Amino acid sequence: MQKLFGGIYKDKSVLVTGHTGFKGSWLVYWLREMGAKVVGYSLEAPTQPNHISLLNLDIVSIVGDIRDLDQLNRAFETYKPDIVFHLAAQPLVRLSYENPIETYETNVMGTLKVFEACRKYDVKAIVNITSDKAYENKEWIWGYRENDPMGGYDPYSSSKGCADLLANSYRNSYFNVQEYKKTHDTLLASCRAGNVIGGGDWAKDRLITDIMLSVSQGKKVSIRNPHATRPWQHVLEPLSGYLHVGQKLLEEKKEFGEAWNFGPSDEGSITVEEVIHNVKKHWEKIDYEINQDPSQPHEANLLKLDCSKAHILLKWKDVWDSDTTFEKTVKWYKSFYEEDTKILTEDDLKSYVADAKTKQIEWAV
Ligand SMILES: NC(=O)c1ccc[n+]([C@@H]2O[C@H](COP(=O)([O-])OP(=O)(O)OC[C@H]3O[C@@H](n4cnc5c(N)ncnc54)[C@H](O)[C@@H]3O)[C@@H](O)[C@H]2O)c1
Repeated sequence: MQKLFGGIYKDKSVLVTGHTGFKGSWLVYWLREMGAKVVGYSLEAPTQPNHISLLNLDIVSIVGDIRDLDQLNRAFETYKPDIVFHLAAQPLVRLSYENPIETYETNVMGTLKVFEACRKYDVKAIVNITSDKAYENKEWIWGYRENDPMGGYDPYSSSKGCADLLANSYRNSYFNVQEYKKTHDTLLASCRAGNVIGGGDWAKDRLITDIMLSVSQGKKVSIRNPHATRPWQHVLEPLSGYLHVGQKLLEEKKEFGEAWNFGPSDEGSITVEEVIHNVKKHWEKIDYEINQDPSQPHEANLLKLDCSKAHILLKWKDVWDSDTTFEKTVKWYKSFYEEDTKILTEDDLKSYVADAKTKQIEWAV
């Protein structure tokens, strides 16, 4: 594990915001396996149960709000991170309609404060996590490219578009690549990925979580949007992209201080109804009913990323096809619910890395 990504993470001080959440917990687990000194900075885990407690990792875990610049500064002062992965956010579209102020405060002002702490403490590398929803969604069949305009219909998507614009401004104003090593030492990249799935997510209003919770309680899951097409990736896929970009930034390759898309291939974009059929193959007890509610708030339907840039310049590729992605995810929850909370995170990471090696993906070899 320690040799992955050119061995760059071993003994590095890595600060991860949002480590008590779904993606953050997988990221800190992977970083620990690679020998990084991990500092997590987040609010308490947003759900019960939650993956981070189940992992029981040996890391520094700070309970803190990214909107609190003084506390952020203290964490940076104490742990002097070489690299920051910024994942903390209010990430739910429905909740953002109910609570736009907190969504913007966290996702925009919180991001601003994380960047300010990075600037004050001369952090070498920042990997800022936004979303495919940050793009102005034209509801068309083509994928969005990194140079397409930011937008966002609902408050969550718009807040992520704002966070990306903020990253652009910081890249121009303070972390300008032309001025790198002259007036500053920081490289900043923004990474945009779509819906991710995998074990250990209990956030509200997420399809796989809803399905797994319902089946564990012997209930039918109610499906709101059966024809919506989404890209479905295992959580380890964008994480391998974030870590690969982080590697390049730590290697001082300034041309990587840009925006990056990490999405699945076309085959990974399927409808919600197809997802249900797919997961049923691995846990036959799963049952569902379609419950289209005409008064539900607007959610994007067609959303696809063009990942040519990551494929060509980073040589990043998907490791798992959608069948494997659904299989791994369902087995994780099945094990948790039917085998006394046994989690398969370690097995999943090992088999993901082994498959990446077999496919000769650059970060793995
Ligand atoms: N899960 C997905 O499908 C998906 C898709 C695209 C982008 N993203 C992005 O990835 C990141 C992680 O998402 P996730 O799915 O793990 O979300 P999550 O809800 O599971 O985790 C969010 C994390 O942020 C922390 N947090 C929230 N508000 C905070 C605050 N004010 N101060 C400090 N910490 C705070 C929470 O405690 C938690 O650790 C987010 O930036 C999200 O927008 C997620």
